[in-house]
Amino acid sequence: MLTLALLTLPLLSVASIHSRHQHDHAHNIAKRLPSPQWYHEPDHPVHELFRRGAPTDGVTYAAVGSDGWSAPYPPGPPASPDVKLLPAAWVAALNDAIARKAIPDIPLSTNVSDGGSPVYPSGSDPNSPQICSATYQCRIDGDIWDAADGYVGLSFDDGPEAGTASLLDFLDQQKQQVTHFMIGSNIIYQPDDFLNAFNRGDDIAVHTWTHPHMTTQSNLQVLGELGWTIQIIHNSTGGRVPKFWRPPYGDSDARTRAIAKEVFGLTTIIWNQDTSDWSLDESPPGTTADKIKASMQQWLTGPKSPGLIILEHELTNDSVASFVAAYPVMKSNGWNVVSLAQLVGNNASYQNSASNSGPVIAADVLGAKSIVASSSAPTTSPSGAANSGSNANSNNSLVSAL
Ligand SMILES: *[C@@H]1O[C@H](CO)[C@@H](O)[C@H](O)[C@H]1NC(C)=O
Ligand SMILES: *[C@@H]1O[C@H](CO)[C@@H](O)[C@H](O)[C@H]1NC(C)=O
Ligand SMILES: *[C@@H]1O[C@H](CO)[C@@H](O)[C@H](O)[C@H]1NC(C)=O
Ligand SMILES: *[C@@H]1O[C@H](CO)[C@@H](O)[C@H](O)[C@H]1NC(C)=O
Ligand SMILES: *[C@@H]1O[C@H](CO)[C@@H](O)[C@H](O)[C@H]1NC(C)=O
Ligand SMILES: [Zn+2]
Repeated sequence: MLTLALLTLPLLSVASIHSRHQHDHAHNIAKRLPSPQWYHEPDHPVHELFRRGAPTDGVTYAAVGSDGWSAPYPPGPPASPDVKLLPAAWVAALNDAIARKAIPDIPLSTNVSDGGSPVYPSGSDPNSPQICSATYQCRIDGDIWDAADGYVGLSFDDGPEAGTASLLDFLDQQKQQVTHFMIGSNIIYQPDDFLNAFNRGDDIAVHTWTHPHMTTQSNLQVLGELGWTIQIIHNSTGGRVPKFWRPPYGDSDARTRAIAKEVFGLTTIIWNQDTSDWSLDESPPGTTADKIKASMQQWLTGPKSPGLIILEHELTNDSVASFVAAYPVMKSNGWNVVSLAQLVGNNASYQNSASNSGPVIAADVLGAKSIVASSSAPTTSPSGAANSGSNANSNNSLVSAL
């Protein structure tokens, strides 16, 4: 029997948020406010780091797009966020995770040349269980590479960007939900596209603040890259904490994925097919629309086991056009086409908000202690991988089921 704390929280007052921010950027985040209510996984430290706002602690958030909203964040690339300016609570949570030996003490990689893979010091095997670098195709238990048989999990990296508006237009026509792995510093420059993606019900997920090779980054740099991106998503969605991150270049290892999971509760998502669509608009182009079409045709008419997680980008209208061209092929070949939350998140895009129907849920900052969950809660996901990120110290299976 599943036990956890259940709260009957008052619904977040939509009107109160909006009356405080009546101006150009007072977009309607209300559409995705708690439905039916919030939940928090009770014992993951992330919930101390990103407390939800009104009505529980009286917090309101600056209007997305306003100067007050963007001002507190670090600059974008090339430099990673200054580690001397990290919130003390994040650093304390990292140190706590290190103290309980949850963060592997392994060497950083260095990137040797543009376009090359980062390398570890000689004597360190990137495919050893200690390091297990995704760049070297080593898969860590609990990280997601494949979709369930028969499913295509749709996700788009690097937004908000020049292709975001056309992508959202198409998705609206198709009534299709997807996952956006967003670059935190990009959100500052395209707040409207960010909110449009959020308001239409897509999963907003983390793609770091400045898009580095993460295995080259120190523990504190990893903390800043993830933490600031979570922070801007949290403060721009009424307090939501994203569930997923994707490492830029697919570059993650046992250390970086542990920081993501242990400090921030994030599940690492890689992919099992790569369009190289990011290179369409390079000069000279790295790939072409025809090449992507041929790859898509091959993947989508091939075996349905495992299912597909295809690396795609919302960088330009051209990269989006390659997706638009492939979408009918996905459908006509009988794939179930879903977002990652639908695939491995039991339909909830965020760690602390049940953004779809279902019984709700858990202990949170109010400190309620116990109750019995409804047995009608769904307990499986299409892939069976939904609970893959669970830790010894969390009752993730329950939360993930909601
Ligand atoms: C987590 O699960 C364990 C074992 O089922 C249980 O003893 C514990 O009370 C649970 N913790 C919370 C916070 O629900
Ligand atoms: C996030 O919102 C809270 C509540 O308004 C505020 O205290 C905090 O400074 C914000 N953080 C940033 C980085 O803007
Ligand atoms: C991309 O598409 C959007 C929306 O369809 C359009 O507004 C924009 O002008 C296009 N950008 C380019 C560079 O063509
Ligand atoms: C190292 O990787 C970063 C991206 O993480 C890239 O911007 C930079 O150019 C690379 N440096 C070298 C020397 O290749
Ligand atoms: C997620 O929602 C879809 C409908 O949007 C539903 O068919 C599916 O069963 C749901 N999955 C879970 C695990 O709740
Ligand atoms: Zn990227």
